Amino acid sequence: MSIELNHISCSYPGGAQESVTVFDDFSLHIADGEFIGIMGHTGCGKTTLLQLMAGLIAPSGGEVLINGEDINKAGYDRSILRRSVGIVFQYPEYQLFETTVEKDVAFGLKHSGLSRAEVRERVIWALTLMGFSYENIRTRSPLTLSGGEKRRVAIAGVLAVKPDILMFDEPIAGLDPQNRTAFLELAAQLNRQGTTVIIVSHNADALAESVCRLIVMDRGRTVMDGTPNSVFADPVRMQELHLGVSTPRAIADMLAKRGIPIAPDIIRYEELLLELRMNLKAR
Ligand SMILES: Nc1ncnc2c1ncn2[C@@H]1O[C@H](COP(=O)(O)OP(=O)(O)O)[C@@H](O)[C@H]1O
Ligand SMILES: [Mg+2]
Repeated sequence: MSIELNHISCSYPGGAQESVTVFDDFSLHIADGEFIGIMGHTGCGKTTLLQLMAGLIAPSGGEVLINGEDINKAGYDRSILRRSVGIVFQYPEYQLFETTVEKDVAFGLKHSGLSRAEVRERVIWALTLMGFSYENIRTRSPLTLSGGEKRRVAIAGVLAVKPDILMFDEPIAGLDPQNRTAFLELAAQLNRQGTTVIIVSHNADALAESVCRLIVMDRGRTVMDGTPNSVFADPVRMQELHLGVSTPRAIADMLAKRGIPIAPDIIRYEELLLELRMNLKAR
């Protein structure tokens, strides 16, 4: 499913203070099946952007189109959103509120029309995908889980709905390396199967290894938008934005400064190794 934001304005009322304008004439087009990363300094509007795209908040101006339909117009069937757009929040503990893990993961399927057996099958499928043993975890209270486990259960609950668009707000912060790799592989796999995937993250290494398009935001604007290779090819600009490039890119820059020529668009470990091997051969 495609997402189009056209000339969006959005602000938060400030109460006693001044209101905060997050977006003023912001536009972004995401095609069906894209795999997108979003980076940006804290407060630049990443979470607000996801909430706008998921229809959780409405813009004060402009339009949000999902598959060409304005999701904020009167009469729009919002059940389409619940079925097709999945969002995993930054703080998953706010997303878990049932008494058992099983009930929590099944929550989004309540009005899906699936039979009990089908719901159970989905719950088993999603929990297994997230690396849990269904039998061991199903009766646990979400409150008793670790931060990383809560996050994985929250992700399972969103996956169980099988949405066409998946959005993750800082999904790998707080995950151990093994679960981080597993999550990124899963996101890539879902994307290959046709799901549009959007990941907000500060982790440049993870984004370099996974996404096909990287959007860099600054104070409610898109300041860079392209392949991760093209975005990380400008470390100076990234530094100005208080953001990092991937570690292989940083190593390549250090080597280049010491007179070892390295292509400027290297961002992944595999690419760096290949380049070093060619360099050694050329000597
Ligand atoms: N519920 C809210 N009420 C008031 N201001 C908010 C609220 N949520 C976010 N903001 C403000 O809006 C701006 C963008 O926030 P956010 O979208 O959370 O940025 P990010 O996710 O990139 O850190 C920030 O200045 C933030 O302080
Ligand atoms: Mg945020």
